[in-house]
Amino acid sequence: MVNRRIAEILKTGQPEESLVVQGWVRTKRELKGFAFLEVNDGSSLGNLQIVINQDLPDYEGILKKINTGASVEITGVLVASQGKGQRIELKADSVKVYGDADPDTYPLQKKRHSFEFLRTIAHLRSRTNSFGAVFRVRNACSAAIHQFFQEKGFLWVHTPIITASDCEGAGELFSVTNFNLKNVPRSENQEIDYSQDFFSKPAYLTVSGQLEAEIMAMAFTNVYTFGPTFRAENSNTSRHLAEFWMVEPEMAFCDLEGDMDLAEEFLKYIFKYVLETCPEDMEFFNERIDKTVLETANNIINNQFERLTYTEAVKLLEKADVKFDYPVSWGADLQSEHERYLAEQLFKKPVIVTDYPAKIKAFYMRLSDDEKTVRAMDILAPKIGEIIGGSQREERLDVLEKRVLAQGMNPEDLWWYLDLRRYGTVPHAGFGLGFERLVQFMTGMGNIRDVIPFPRTPQSAEF
Ligand code: 4AD
Ligand code: MG
Repeated sequence: MVNRRIAEILKTGQPEESLVVQGWVRTKRELKGFAFLEVNDGSSLGNLQIVINQDLPDYEGILKKINTGASVEITGVLVASQGKGQRIELKADSVKVYGDADPDTYPLQKKRHSFEFLRTIAHLRSRTNSFGAVFRVRNACSAAIHQFFQEKGFLWVHTPIITASDCEGAGELFSVTNFNLKNVPRSENQEIDYSQDFFSKPAYLTVSGQLEAEIMAMAFTNVYTFGPTFRAENSNTSRHLAEFWMVEPEMAFCDLEGDMDLAEEFLKYIFKYVLETCPEDMEFFNERIDKTVLETANNIINNQFERLTYTEAVKLLEKADVKFDYPVSWGADLQSEHERYLAEQLFKKPVIVTDYPAKIKAFYMRLSDDEKTVRAMDILAPKIGEIIGGSQREERLDVLEKRVLAQGMNPEDLWWYLDLRRYGTVPHAGFGLGFERLVQFMTGMGNIRDVIPFPRTPQSAEF
């Protein structure tokens, strides 16, 4: 007997095919002499309708065990559906219940639950329509990212999670200790010393794989990372996580213009890929979450992003007839309200802002001839704000050494990074895409906690 996933059955299943499906019951409807089940196995938004006839042995007993949330295996034959809403349904010949779910305690019942409530049951929320769609689209985004870079001949490099360096220089690090629970007697009132370092040296969870990606680009020309990164910023916003995934391409023999061109092509590619591979989920977001999702996706694919310098952006913000909470002035970092004004209200599409003041950007960005700005670029997206941050890197040893010192860092800690400028240095550039912000942008989901299966925030790191 053929075992098939529901997405495929809904698309290509034909009457008279015999098959087996496994999944979780979404709803049960009992009528006179038969019952309908809606079963979902996570492969699609759509459920497969199952018809169970009272002729089935132990009909009453089986139906009692089957409630929303139960896991089942159904063997049967596909038939054309008489009812509205589905082309095909499965007439059950046998039903096996793997595990029932007590309707008095199972928290997911057939009604709309708020996202706040669903966050409290992150171990079950993937079984809802919304989270099913989010995590399928998240998967499609990952696949698109790898396909994009692999087609272009970029090498996927694995950079360390544990590191001694603070790439962004922002001091937002989680430290790592080699604390061994096994060796500690666990009495109730025991004071635990968490202050030990990683084998006697300071070590942290990485905030970015960029510096190591630069090492690899100096050998392989074009590389990218795609992995988890960590920031100990205590920001309780709908755009910040303590653990998030970042995609960081790094290209040797590339300048800021090449970097921006790649970033724009990259975002367009991902949107196109997701529209093609997850049309049903994208329709769902457009209907249920945010009515502009499809329009935004098409806008990204079909229009050029706006490009302007930080200096030009500040002038536009100063002229804006909007009252901002934070004042705008040359030299101050753009706040999320400013970023959103530019992308959402003024240009109504992604905006690439370049050439930020050196003082507010990281040590590794290439200093321009004016000695005031660096060759940085941020891509600002409507509703999200900064989605990508990147730059051309400082490839000149003497300038880089000065920048390291000016930012209060110790050049000795970065001896290996400076070596890259000593031996065969080249102009190079790269960027970092906040993966969860991309998924938010794609789906219209309002809160970043709802686009990652297990959000880590100052309030939650439960499992
Ligand atoms: O702008 P950031 O800090 O840039 C870097 O880390 C560079 N080293 C990247 C590079 O050039 N290779 O972070 C990059 C992106 C941001 O634009 C944002 O989308 C996302 O990472 N990001 C966060 N996403 C979720 N939660 C947080 N706390 C984030 N901090 C940054
Ligand atoms: Mg940034």
